[in-house]
Amino acid sequence: MRVLVIGGGGREHALVWKISQSSRITNIFCAPGNPGIAALAKCVPIQASNIQDLLSFAQNQSIDLTVVGPEAPLANGIVDLFRQARLRIFGPTKMAAKIETSKVFAKDLMRRSGIPTPSAKTFTDASQAQEYLRKHDMPVVIKADGLAQGKGVVVATTLAEAKKAVTDLLEQHMLGPSGSTIMIEEFVAGNELSVMALTDGNTVTPLLASRDYKRIFDHDQGKNTGGMGSFSPVNSVNIALMNRILTEILQPTVDTLASLGSPYRGLLYAGIMLTPDGPKALECNARFGDPETQVVLPLLKTDLVDLLDAVVTHQLDTIPPIEWHEGAAVCVVLASNGYPSCPDVDKPIYGVRKAENIDGVTVFYAGTKMTDSVLTTSGGRVLGVTATGSNHSTAQEKAYEAVAHITFDGMQYRKDICHEGV
Ligand code: GLY
Repeated sequence: MRVLVIGGGGREHALVWKISQSSRITNIFCAPGNPGIAALAKCVPIQASNIQDLLSFAQNQSIDLTVVGPEAPLANGIVDLFRQARLRIFGPTKMAAKIETSKVFAKDLMRRSGIPTPSAKTFTDASQAQEYLRKHDMPVVIKADGLAQGKGVVVATTLAEAKKAVTDLLEQHMLGPSGSTIMIEEFVAGNELSVMALTDGNTVTPLLASRDYKRIFDHDQGKNTGGMGSFSPVNSVNIALMNRILTEILQPTVDTLASLGSPYRGLLYAGIMLTPDGPKALECNARFGDPETQVVLPLLKTDLVDLLDAVVTHQLDTIPPIEWHEGAAVCVVLASNGYPSCPDVDKPIYGVRKAENIDGVTVFYAGTKMTDSVLTTSGGRVLGVTATGSNHSTAQEKAYEAVAHITFDGMQYRKDICHEGV
């Protein structure tokens, strides 16, 4: 098979890394890819948002399967476009991807389907939102309706923070149209969990649960980010809890989308809070999580291409149970100074080879580029240093041992990934 992966971050590096291990693969392309991906796939200089050029490339290169990494091309309708051209592509249609591209749509769907989820109110008018806040206990969660590259969620612990978030979105238009509708959501305490599941629109097959660390600083302080680290599996997620997540959250989401005429095919990601009343869905995403993928795929024993193919051909029910490696995986994200607001770039990166020489360590590249044959930073999240081990503490020790070899100017990372709550 000739496979095209779309995207150029750590998630896409992990996808390419796992796909390249399949005996069914003859060629892998990645658009646009990055210097790490270039060691495994032919990188093609087409941006993930340029869906017409991606279609032409897939047609000209007789691509058998295209796998979409990020949400933006899904929002732009890449799956609809490829399907119209009779090309096989892994991911949901533009309509089905609304589960991620509109938080208001997702919340309505969850309420309608009886999916446990925190209560929320929608606003487009700043003064009405501020009036609501004055009568509401803190903390609250303020969410932009549209896509915001990890910048659309504010957990406000004080009224002043909440009011500023409303002003930023509805008056200052800091996220443009993505923030012109907002949701003010009840804050729910508990342990957060990411559950990614494959679905062909009918059968839903969950992958191992993982946990990611959204705040920039240790002990969950500071701004929300795309994710500063992750680990998998999560030991508290036993078979009974996973069955609850499947029957109370994942399957009803897929069934409701099908009943609305938008069958969902691809990877469905549920961000879940484990509360004393059971699991509650905080959000759904329409693609693999980043950096959750960097810890789940290293534990996957089954051929990923078999799974992706079964989703696309609507045959997930015929696939034997997914097999997993024993042990655990931990990923520590190395980020640029200034991330998530305004990351510094163009800093030379040292020590990656040494880190990769540690047994069980894989460094997934994200915001990186080659400048005159020197690996340099080009974005907020730069590298995802992932280690597998026989248990969580071994994996964690190896990940941090590898991190200690890597440096770049302004490098920041969390020191508490997988320290507790395993
Ligand atoms: N790590 C969170 C996400 O992928 O949305």
